[in-house]
Amino acid sequence: MIYIPIEMTDNSLGNKLHVGQLYVPAFEDFKGVIDQISKTNYYTNNGPLLQQLERELAIYLGVKYVLAVTNGTIGLMIALEAIHKQGSILTPRFSFPATMNAICMIGANIFYCDTLRFSPNACLVSIEDKLKNNKDISTILLPNLWSTVNNIDEISCLSNKYNVNLIYDSTQSFSCSYKGKRIAINGNAEVFSFHATKLITSFEGGCITTNNRYLYEKLSNIRSSYGAVGHLYKPVKTANGRMSELQAGLCLKSLSKIKSSVAHNKMIFNLYKKFLNPKKIYIIFEPSTRIIESNYQYVVLIINPNYNKFRDRLKDVLNKNNILARSYFNYDFSVFNNENPIDFPCSIELSRSTICLPIGQQITIKHVQYVAYIINNFFNNLNL
Ligand SMILES: Cc1ncc(COP(=O)(O)O)c(C=O)c1O
Repeated sequence: MIYIPIEMTDNSLGNKLHVGQLYVPAFEDFKGVIDQISKTNYYTNNGPLLQQLERELAIYLGVKYVLAVTNGTIGLMIALEAIHKQGSILTPRFSFPATMNAICMIGANIFYCDTLRFSPNACLVSIEDKLKNNKDISTILLPNLWSTVNNIDEISCLSNKYNVNLIYDSTQSFSCSYKGKRIAINGNAEVFSFHATKLITSFEGGCITTNNRYLYEKLSNIRSSYGAVGHLYKPVKTANGRMSELQAGLCLKSLSKIKSSVAHNKMIFNLYKKFLNPKKIYIIFEPSTRIIESNYQYVVLIINPNYNKFRDRLKDVLNKNNILARSYFNYDFSVFNNENPIDFPCSIELSRSTICLPIGQQITIKHVQYVAYIINNFFNNLNL
């Protein structure tokens, strides 16, 4: 264990340390966007900043079509509305509830699959088992959580084999790569979030990406008649999911800083690895692998099942010390579906044993030392 002198660990600013990027552009940048908008007199309805953002995102992500939307949840609903035809939708029993909510909002039935053990990625055996036994499932909605990526190749084999649609909820993994290519091109479509806590931000916002021209036209028509592309698709329902010019302008500023944001996060992530002392009590989830390059937007501790009864106590201690760590994700997912939770042991275990620590633009080396000091002390005092 690394000795940390107490004077190094003091969160003397008294700031609350949040989970999430919280990248706020400099006031001058912010003002520049407002000046630009006041010159064009374009505030929303597919304005010039929005179109510029969509072009720049498409280049950055290496995808043909990008549709900016009001937020990630609306993006998921629009994607589901465009892609899912009938029957049920399969999704893991472990995600932020917006994933399940989007399915409910389009009125489809949910089936759950399990995750892997100690990973938020979906379990392939569990997916296949559900597809084999429930012919009613015609779409899979898979979240790429904690700034990592699912096993894209294997999952696309399964979706082809069972002839089901595939949508990725990549709201937590913008800018991550799989086999050297940024995600955005996988499945029928992917959805990203630009919420204030995400890697790039428009405070609220998001986008849908696809390489399929017809799907893009359909998505654009469901979003709104402003910016709708093509004449073939006549939507029954529209979402009014437009992104405003102010949101688009902010997002462009934050996209221009993305390289340094990822580098900062990676540095902070590695500092956590250096200063924390997990022993055998927990692991620090590693989001990068041989084929996945993470954006390091999340630091998640997974507590050994023998000790997960201490998770909520640790969270309380951190919260009392201004560290707003969160259990990612501990919700009652049975509200969306009445399948027996016992059938999803890995998801249930994750819900009980994870804790997500502050990272992002606002977090400094001193903050990491402070957080690590509190966590190391907490477990040392338990004498496990
Ligand atoms: C996995 C997941 N899906 C969907 C969303 C919804 O995104 P938004 O907050 O932009 O609506 C979030 C938001 O954090 C998320 O984490």
